Amino acid sequence: MREPQVVRAEGLPERVTVYEVGARDGLQNESALVPVEAKAEFVRRLVAAGLPAVEVTSFVSPRWVPQLADAEELLAELGPLDGVRAPVLVPNERGLDRALAAGVREIAVFGSATETFAQRNLNRGLEDQFAMFEPVVVRAKAEGLVVRAYVSMCFGDPWEGDVAIPQVVGVATRLLGMGADELSLGDTIGVATPGHTTALLQALGDAGVGPERISVHFHDTYGQALSNTLAALQSGVTSVDSSAGGLGGCPYAKSATGNLATEDLVWMLHGLGISTGVDLSSLVATSAWMAGVLGRPSPSAVVRALAADLPDLEG
Ligand code: HMG
Ligand code: MG
Repeated sequence: MREPQVVRAEGLPERVTVYEVGARDGLQNESALVPVEAKAEFVRRLVAAGLPAVEVTSFVSPRWVPQLADAEELLAELGPLDGVRAPVLVPNERGLDRALAAGVREIAVFGSATETFAQRNLNRGLEDQFAMFEPVVVRAKAEGLVVRAYVSMCFGDPWEGDVAIPQVVGVATRLLGMGADELSLGDTIGVATPGHTTALLQALGDAGVGPERISVHFHDTYGQALSNTLAALQSGVTSVDSSAGGLGGCPYAKSATGNLATEDLVWMLHGLGISTGVDLSSLVATSAWMAGVLGRPSPSAVVRALAADLPDLEG
């Protein structure tokens, strides 16, 4: 399978952690329920493709996200995943109890930078979200878990429009102040642009949150995700969220589409001589297989360009 020609550019990291969210952010948004065996196969194939962090599922209310109601079953089916980070989303103490009982070692809470999305996604106001997350973060840290804090709507909100940078910095620093280890900046509806990305990272740096603790999480609604990622790398970020085949979205954010496709990200990173540990051809084969399971083609440009080279497309 074709690989990009490697030409390095100045001012970029040697290595980037690709944090894969397809099994969670991707599958939470599918209208058809994907069988638990297919989800497990997806996760196993992502791990086998060399992804170092694979977000597996969410321990949220099954009434809110029925697509991921099988979280316990999925983890039981998978068993221990050695040598790979396997985080899950947890909104509240009920979710943390479930995650701990399932043997999870890494969780992510998910805050909102805006009032409306906090209401829509978490059923509480912006200020009240902190009261829900604090005991989760504190107890998870006491249990020795790794904790990520997402902030959604960092660059714009479908109901409120523009989101001011200081508002994002305020929510991010409060979540980190609870004890979260890392921050993921969610462009939930894909409206970010590169200058905005640089400015937000600069403002976070000024507030004492350096790029070594930050991941970027771009949805590709407006086709800006790769450009924004490059801007983030130039600002020192070395962890990027993406979704195999470009699956994804948020059922509680109208106009959220797929995440940056992992294949598109890996093509760019490898072309820049940045190592990821990911095997692009295994990944493309995985996304082509998942497109068969879901019954529609992948939106990823790189999957579309390379899938024709696959020796045998499994259904
Ligand atoms: P609520 O209705 O306020 O919660 O929802 P509640 O505490 O009043 O409980 C209501 C019912 O849900 C009760 O059941 C609870 O037991 C149950 P009942 O007694 O009525 O039968 N319940 C739970 N069940 C299992 N596990 C739990 C749990 N919690 C409550 N953890 C809540 C509040 C936060 C639970 C709800 O709003 C929720 O689940 N929201 C999750 C929405 C979601 O998953 N959105 C997608 C992820 S975020 C995202 O995609 C963005 C991201 O990718 C970054 C980006 O792109 O920006 C991360
Ligand atoms: Mg997302």
